[in-house]
Amino acid sequence: MSKGAQKKLIQSKALRHPSSYVKALYNNKYKSLVFDETDCLMFKGQWRKSGFKSPASAKLDLEIGPGSGAFFAHLTANNPDRLFIAVELKYKPLIQSIRRIRNNDYLNARAIRYNARLLEDVFALEELNNVYIYFPDPWPKKRHHKHRLIKPDFVNKLYQLQRKSSFVEIKTDHQSYYMEMQSIFKGSPYCLSGYSYNLQKDAHLNENNFITPFEKIFIRKNLPIYYAKYIKTSS
Ligand SMILES: C[S@@+](CC[C@H](N)C(=O)[O-])C[C@H]1O[C@@H](n2cnc3c(N)ncnc32)[C@H](O)[C@@H]1O
Repeated sequence: MSKGAQKKLIQSKALRHPSSYVKALYNNKYKSLVFDETDCLMFKGQWRKSGFKSPASAKLDLEIGPGSGAFFAHLTANNPDRLFIAVELKYKPLIQSIRRIRNNDYLNARAIRYNARLLEDVFALEELNNVYIYFPDPWPKKRHHKHRLIKPDFVNKLYQLQRKSSFVEIKTDHQSYYMEMQSIFKGSPYCLSGYSYNLQKDAHLNENNFITPFEKIFIRKNLPIYYAKYIKTSS
């Protein structure tokens, strides 16, 4: 584990007053479906061989910040030939995500408790295929912008962790964070392959759009959803 990860990640097993969600992380019924910040590290470079039923050649996709896991469950249900990992920092959404997976008996998914800023601790170079980042926390106050996930360093690291021809897909309701993300990706090796300033009104892009729980809230408030898709075109 990098020094940064050691410093920034609370160790779940060391919590003196673990909540029911922290305890659930170690419940036998979720064994081999969800991993804490220490156990997930042993699969770096080996995720495809970590007990999935699919062949080691299967595509491995990542969702960052699944929240309660509605989209994560949708992905796993609709793509049984692909493998999925969700990385989530908070215990409640982590366990909610994995409950959906277990209740539906999906065999192609895992969830890990980790800080997505430190993905390079968990995944080897070019280990990942597609990455979904839906409604990353916008940290709207200027003094909190430093906590935003999408930063030049993060984007360049993510690029190295993905295989050629894979994509990153982003949705947000937050216009200024979206503009900042656009400019960060523009300065990176990724190629923009699609975007929208109002996804709901874009018939083509919206056709297969899955509306996440956060997205629902913003649509109800009549806010536009900003969307962008970036491709890794070369190694
Ligand atoms: C605004 S919610 C969006 C949830 C879901 N994607 C949706 O669209 O409904 C953001 C989620 O990202 C998680 N998150 C925020 N920062 C994270 C990080 N650095 N690493 C992993 N997860 C993170 C939060 O705990 C939360 O569940």
